[in-house]
Amino acid sequence: MRPGLKLLLSTTMIWAASPAFAQHAPTALSEASTAHPGKWPAAGSQGLVDPATEKFVTALMAQMTLEEKVGQMIQADIGAMKPEELRQYPLGSILAGGSSPPLGAPDRSPAAPWVATAQAFRKVAMEPRGKHQPIPLIFGIDAVHGNNNVIGATIFPHNIGLGAMHDPALIRRIGRATARETAATGPDWAFGPTLAVPQDDRWGRSYEGYSEDPAVVRSYAGEMIRGLQGEPGTKGRIQQGYVAASAKHFLGDGGTFEGVDQGDTRVSEDALIAIHAQGYVPAIQAGALTVMASYSSWNGAKMHGSKSLLTDVLKDRMGFQGFVVGDWNGHGQVPGCPRTDCAATFNAGLDMAMAPDSWKGLFESTVRHARDGTIPMARIDDAVRRILRVKAKLGLFDPARPIEGKAGVLGSAEHRAIAREAVAKSLVLLKNQGVLPVKASANILVAGPGADSMAQQTGGWTLSWQGDGNDNSMFPNGQTIFSGIAEAVKAGGGTATLSPDGSFSARPDVAIVVFGEQPYAEMRGDIPTLEFQPGDKQALALLRKLKAAGVPTVSVFLSGRPLWVNPEINASDAFVAAWLPGSEGGGVADVIIGDRAGKPRRDFHGTLSFSWPRNAGQFTLNRGQPGYDPLFALGYGLSYARPGKVEALSEVAGFDASARNTSVYFTKGVTPAPFAFAADSKVTRAPIDGPQTQEGAQQLSWPEGPATLRIGGKPISLAREANGDLSLALTYRLDRAAAGPVTLAMGEGKGVDATSLFTGETGKWRTVKILLKCYQANGTDMNAVSAPVVIGASGPLALSLSDARIVSDPANSICPGAK
Ligand code: BGC
Ligand code: BGC
Repeated sequence: MRPGLKLLLSTTMIWAASPAFAQHAPTALSEASTAHPGKWPAAGSQGLVDPATEKFVTALMAQMTLEEKVGQMIQADIGAMKPEELRQYPLGSILAGGSSPPLGAPDRSPAAPWVATAQAFRKVAMEPRGKHQPIPLIFGIDAVHGNNNVIGATIFPHNIGLGAMHDPALIRRIGRATARETAATGPDWAFGPTLAVPQDDRWGRSYEGYSEDPAVVRSYAGEMIRGLQGEPGTKGRIQQGYVAASAKHFLGDGGTFEGVDQGDTRVSEDALIAIHAQGYVPAIQAGALTVMASYSSWNGAKMHGSKSLLTDVLKDRMGFQGFVVGDWNGHGQVPGCPRTDCAATFNAGLDMAMAPDSWKGLFESTVRHARDGTIPMARIDDAVRRILRVKAKLGLFDPARPIEGKAGVLGSAEHRAIAREAVAKSLVLLKNQGVLPVKASANILVAGPGADSMAQQTGGWTLSWQGDGNDNSMFPNGQTIFSGIAEAVKAGGGTATLSPDGSFSARPDVAIVVFGEQPYAEMRGDIPTLEFQPGDKQALALLRKLKAAGVPTVSVFLSGRPLWVNPEINASDAFVAAWLPGSEGGGVADVIIGDRAGKPRRDFHGTLSFSWPRNAGQFTLNRGQPGYDPLFALGYGLSYARPGKVEALSEVAGFDASARNTSVYFTKGVTPAPFAFAADSKVTRAPIDGPQTQEGAQQLSWPEGPATLRIGGKPISLAREANGDLSLALTYRLDRAAAGPVTLAMGEGKGVDATSLFTGETGKWRTVKILLKCYQANGTDMNAVSAPVVIGASGPLALSLSDARIVSDPANSICPGAK
């Protein structure tokens, strides 16, 4: 054992998670929202502070103006800032958000425009500044499962799959490969690893966590940091193809009440330490250069404003000496803080604010606050010192970038082999009644929507923020699960036939059915129930059809979390949880397809790092909890060497979640619960056919004189959706153009002038997407929206509505009525 590792184990053991902490008893706000630093483990950043670097930073700071100092503390998004603007606004950092393309290129671009973007910004930042030494930018990107924004990159399994491997050494190799692929395309900073310990699997970011078990997160955190950044003492990191890491999201992101993204983590301080902080000790010890603050709150107090956790605990007690970066406009959620003005977050201990589109205003207000002492100069200096220290430690002051733009790094055979190994090791065999491994000489039907879908196997945070809109052509180096199976059987004399709908002419020996969740990321991935495909059991129907035809079935389930799939398990002879395996689908075939004679070529290795639910309502099913009663416990996983039998399972879901819907207001001719048309409206409604005949719609007719149509319910918050640039999408056909002004509003807000959307050509179905922030800009309180769809017309108007929901498509969204 390395000496460092021994030390790490002994310090963490003492405060390792105890089952008693794994409960979710809300604690009284007053006593819990201030931390007692003395309770927290000391960690200490290894290799971050040394006299030579500090001297260099001191000398540099002595030359800096106040504006230059404040500039270091602000990060802009490349979608909202031009390189030239750095001349007037000397910012310290840029990022590329999940939906932000490289300059002059589309979202989903190959390496070249990314390199050009990094160089264009760097060039301006490094222009001579009189006698002063130019200060390099640090460029961050969400390289969270490989350098996943770039076409051609190796896409590794999402963290939930990596957790199932229980293989810290492989995690380090994945970090190393990710760093090289990131540095090769220009950025010098990966916004990972996510050290969340997800406790409620309704959370849409569950898959970004390695495990519900803090011990697994703890065993991975330091290894991932070392893989991304190199050993703590490494010099010239960027030149060697290492990047800065960001341990995120500090703290308690995985513990929010009811699994709501960006929500409130209502736990005791002891639980915060024992569950959510476990990954940070080894991460800090391994020299993590940055930590990202969480959007979430702890017992009602926003992390971005928490001095007690950011400063007293993280910096003072845990000894973190890198810098704390904010999350996407996260400072704007601190009470009293518009996005463009937030002294409180810096005073709490945030060193750099992620101010994607709010950077200009935030820069100006922060300069003012520094000048008038609202933010003490010592605080500014501390933040700037930390940022410059990190830049120096990364090697950014040395202009050499030998890896950047280097051919053969992105998607290299070596990196893809690592990813393929991770895929094979992450598979968890939940059931196998004599069908696996499939003989390589068999005739195999490969069915299901996920069989030949790079989008579905890679999931969110892939080429686009939510991972939607991707097709196979965008993964030139990847291999689908089907293609991996086809390759394996070709070698063994069998056949593989792709048939997404499961139809066949000659009866196959076996069907491998690949299905699961569609891609999603933060917010949009939050679900009200753990039931898979509630009310619309397409995969189950496919499995049953195949069984009825006498075909044995193997299910390969693609998901970002354990879901209630008892009926699907019953209808399968074998069931494999494959998580979100990424671009190397061949790793699935390596394990499920045997040799010609049916002997395994590689055994299953993975075991559950998340407990699997027995019913759809077991949201917070975590080992150590009172009454813990999973279907498959943490650590479960069959293999060829360790077979087991799964009896017929109950098919009663046990939880109806329709009431938790907050994003779909009208679909298939009806308002889904809990939404309904307001009863007292003068607007009349009549059912008609929608754009696709089977999908119902309703025709809405406004009378002479003003009238309003409202779809509403109990007030919901759409504040984080507005922050994430989500939109309200309305699909409708104009039947009679409006005779006067039309307004679209939310709740009681005054809304936006939408006349242009309801005049002009009639008779054509269309979808318009209205950015939620347009409503917000007009003064709507997004925290309590009583009616998400409000259409007011001053005179006659008729339209047929087929759908109304929240979507993510900022590039194709509008602000009606805005100049
Ligand atoms: C996410 C972070 C991410 C950041 C930049 C935020 O919305 O919470 O995990 O690193 O955006 O894209
Ligand atoms: C995400 C960004 C993304 C943006 C969408 C944020 O919350 O973290 O990465 O690009 O929303 O506009």
